[in-house]
Amino acid sequence: MTVMMLSGLTVLAQNKLIVNADQGKTQISKHIYGHFSEHLGRCIYGGIWVGPDSDIENINGYRTDVFEALKNLNIPNLRWPGGCFADEYHWTDGIGPKSERPKMINTHWGGVTEDNSFGTHEFLNFCEMLETTPYITGNVGSGSVEEMSKWVEYINFDGVSPMADLRRRNGREEPWNIKYWGVGNESWGCGGNMTPEYYANEYRRYATFARNYPGARLYKIAGGANSTDYNWTEVLMQKIPLRMMDAMSLHYYTIPGNWGDKGSSTEFSEREYLVTLEKAAFMDELLDKHETIMDKYDPRKRVKLIVDEWGTWYDVEPNTNPGFLYQQNTLRDAFVAAITLNTFNNHADRVHMANLAQTVNVLQALILTDEKEMLLTPTYHVFDLYKPHMDAILLPTHLESEDVKIEDVQIDALNVSSSLSKDGTVNISIANIHPDKAIDLEVALRGSDAKSVSGRYLTAPELNSHNSFENKDVVGIQEFKDYKWNKDALNVKVPAKSVVVLQVK
Ligand code: AHR
Repeated sequence: MTVMMLSGLTVLAQNKLIVNADQGKTQISKHIYGHFSEHLGRCIYGGIWVGPDSDIENINGYRTDVFEALKNLNIPNLRWPGGCFADEYHWTDGIGPKSERPKMINTHWGGVTEDNSFGTHEFLNFCEMLETTPYITGNVGSGSVEEMSKWVEYINFDGVSPMADLRRRNGREEPWNIKYWGVGNESWGCGGNMTPEYYANEYRRYATFARNYPGARLYKIAGGANSTDYNWTEVLMQKIPLRMMDAMSLHYYTIPGNWGDKGSSTEFSEREYLVTLEKAAFMDELLDKHETIMDKYDPRKRVKLIVDEWGTWYDVEPNTNPGFLYQQNTLRDAFVAAITLNTFNNHADRVHMANLAQTVNVLQALILTDEKEMLLTPTYHVFDLYKPHMDAILLPTHLESEDVKIEDVQIDALNVSSSLSKDGTVNISIANIHPDKAIDLEVALRGSDAKSVSGRYLTAPELNSHNSFENKDVVGIQEFKDYKWNKDALNVKVPAKSVVVLQVK
């Protein structure tokens, strides 16, 4: 809460936002709006891929409804095949005639049989259809340097070579020329339980043989820290020559309770709601701390941060496979998305990419499916609202916000970020997390004489409102009109429990 002292009287400052429209310097990489699809539960199988012979409408095996929904979001990238799955995935099992592909057990996720019918070609062709950038995570934990090196050759080499020839025999003439390459996943845990010193050495070895081919320079991503493991970041920055890594990752999940009792996705008290959002807002401090360490070794911010797993993690829905991580998605999740995306925008000088976990049917999903049915979650709608920020220039803001307090938990009611699009439009995204108070916000646009405003917003009757297969439109986007100019300031009434995106030009 911002408090001002006036002639000895303590008064609450009004809610005020200053947007410095002529002081933008840093581009918000569109890749901050990226996604993650693992071989986990019904994310790939049933969520993205049903196979060409399915009764569910599909384009060459990919669900038509899911494809269209992702296309509408212009998703900038998609991370695959894991997650923990990546470090037990052997890519050669997923190429060639489907009937000859070996099966394996997905030991991390439900112990189900993985038939490898979705492999390298299926993933990269899907990315091409979506016109999105692929991001592949290679196997360090149970793979070999040779295996990873050959995968890169298979995907990216244009000349005559054993792997490029194999790719051609499997029906793909041109290389895909992919850029983003992760060297292992969670090597501190499911990816091999390594120490940071050991992983740093492994990274150097694997990254050396993940070759750049003509027209396909890899952007190499070191597997970074688990949440507040600042030592992991410190050691990697110390031990890996900066020229050998383009970025380092970071994983952070928002869990209302603890790993043993995470909490329900739909049944929660107002206090638990606020705790969840307080934990989501912690991303700001988390990034500050990792960035401070990185700044020490890399003051020019050449090595980027990639938050390639983030989102809410609750107890699974009752009567679903605990290994499938299927959860509902309510208005609360929309706020987690809005706060986190605002935070990434505001850290755009170091954060180059982020990937929400996970695209369909897993954790904080954009989309849920049930056989032929599909619905868009509140989180999907936040990504839709925030589209104008992609590749726009971050604008410095100053926010004075009142607090929201429930029992012992107290945080800012408002959370914002702002950007400038190429055509001069100023985009302002505002989350008002107050459960029942509309907030009058004065927005001062400095350095801009823009006057024409349009807006869209998201709200719902209850904090736990969600879209279900019976009613898919409980939480959706509406036009926003509750603003008016007062001299040079824009007075906005931000509805209780809402996410508003204004565009001023
Ligand atoms: O997203 C689910 C899992 O969370 C991923 O497989 C793993 O990397 C993380 O622990």
